[in-house]
Amino acid sequence: MTSYTRIAGLADIPVGKMLRVDHAPEPILLVNVDAHIYALCDTCPHEDASLASGALQGKFVKCPLHGSRFDVRDGTVQEEPAEHGLTVFDVRIEGNDILLGPPRS
Ligand code: FES
Repeated sequence: MTSYTRIAGLADIPVGKMLRVDHAPEPILLVNVDAHIYALCDTCPHEDASLASGALQGKFVKCPLHGSRFDVRDGTVQEEPAEHGLTVFDVRIEGNDILLGPPRS
């Protein structure tokens, strides 16, 4: 059975904001786009910057170091230099809790 873990509360991440959550085995980037919560790997696959300190531009997050852009809905690279996308995780909302599930395949 798939397990989901509480990693934040809805109040922690207003619409249009991002939040880094230290979570083993890797930090998670939570993004609130139009009241929909997305969860991705926070580490840029180019040179390991934390994407939470980058910029959220609509449904895209821009890396603070060299400007790679990723689609938060599916983790795909929209703008290089990154060559690989981000892992995206299942998310469930229960009450005021954000629950992290397994990576989407
Ligand atoms: S570390 Fe993100 S684009 Fe270089």
